[in-house]
Amino acid sequence: MRILAIETSCDETSLAVVEAEGGKSRPRFHILANLVSSQIAVHRPFGGVVPNLAKREHEKNLPILLKKLLDSRFHILDSIDLIAVTVGPGLEPALWAGIEFAKWLSKKLGKPLVGANHLEGHLYSFLLQRKGKRQIANRKSLFPAVALIVSGGHTLLLSLPSLTKRKRLGETRDDAAGEAFDKVARMLELPYPGGPEVEKLARKGNKSAIPFPRPMLGHGPVTNYNFSFSGLKTAVLYRLRDHRDNKADVAASFQEAVVDVLVKKTIAAAMRTGARAVLLSGGVAANKALRARLRAAAQKEGMAFFAPEGILNTDNAAMIAVAAHVSPKKYHIAAQGNLLL
Ligand code: KG4
Ligand code: ZN
Repeated sequence: MRILAIETSCDETSLAVVEAEGGKSRPRFHILANLVSSQIAVHRPFGGVVPNLAKREHEKNLPILLKKLLDSRFHILDSIDLIAVTVGPGLEPALWAGIEFAKWLSKKLGKPLVGANHLEGHLYSFLLQRKGKRQIANRKSLFPAVALIVSGGHTLLLSLPSLTKRKRLGETRDDAAGEAFDKVARMLELPYPGGPEVEKLARKGNKSAIPFPRPMLGHGPVTNYNFSFSGLKTAVLYRLRDHRDNKADVAASFQEAVVDVLVKKTIAAAMRTGARAVLLSGGVAANKALRARLRAAAQKEGMAFFAPEGILNTDNAAMIAVAAHVSPKKYHIAAQGNLLL
């Protein structure tokens, strides 16, 4: 089964072709192409993503990516069995650009079109790992698992009894983890997108310099799996207003507080649910401090740890092909909007 997938939920335009084998219960994936065109330079002057600009850029970039795909694999469209497109959650005008393009392509190729959920894309992106053959062969031993999805719009902690069964354990009550990184970056006068910039600056700072709060962590054993990052963001704001700290220390101490909360809650949830593996995904999963801490904590408890490598952390269409193949739910094209898991 060859799936052509399209992702335009935010500020990356992406087109991918993924081969799926082995049915829904034991799928294996092979990426034939995963083209991503980033709009960072377009949105940077505005300090964040401008939805209508994103739509315009997606409309411009999708035909360019399709041409690029055909330049390298001239006959690839002849072998496509299914087209998948992100229908949510995401920015409405941006999503529509992808949906309209997918509809057009589906008609042109005479192939079926299905909707896919962006968060399921992140969730299942670990199935795309290159080293994954061995891991996927042993997949049964990964479940039950817990999954932490940390992106610009969401912070979700899920329990996965199996690949396609899941239960929501917790989510953010206010800002998403990535959003907190982006807002703190703005306070530190770092360019958009803030997450990678804060991480870069944090490398030069002392993570124990400032005792920022660990929101919703409390004392004693963790029993609440929800998150809240807006208080931490405000604490950074007041700290910058009232003190003359080294900015790198602020970045490092802020990042440490976020990582602390994410790791402690995820590991507590994993232990409570008897998880055999911890799955980390979403844009913030690119953060090396978070990856290292969560990996070490999971392994200490004898659990496997998976986080996507490189480009698979950022929004990309290969993960959307996987979501379309694996998802236990049907997402209708017409139901586009801020669909949640
Ligand atoms: O998943 P994603 O690419 O888009 C959404 O679905 O939201 O996530 C983007 C978010 C942004 O908030 C960005 O600042 C954050 O992920 N991010 C990071 C890092 N790289 C991206 N946050 C912390 N450290 C990073 N290295
Ligand atoms: Zn995303």
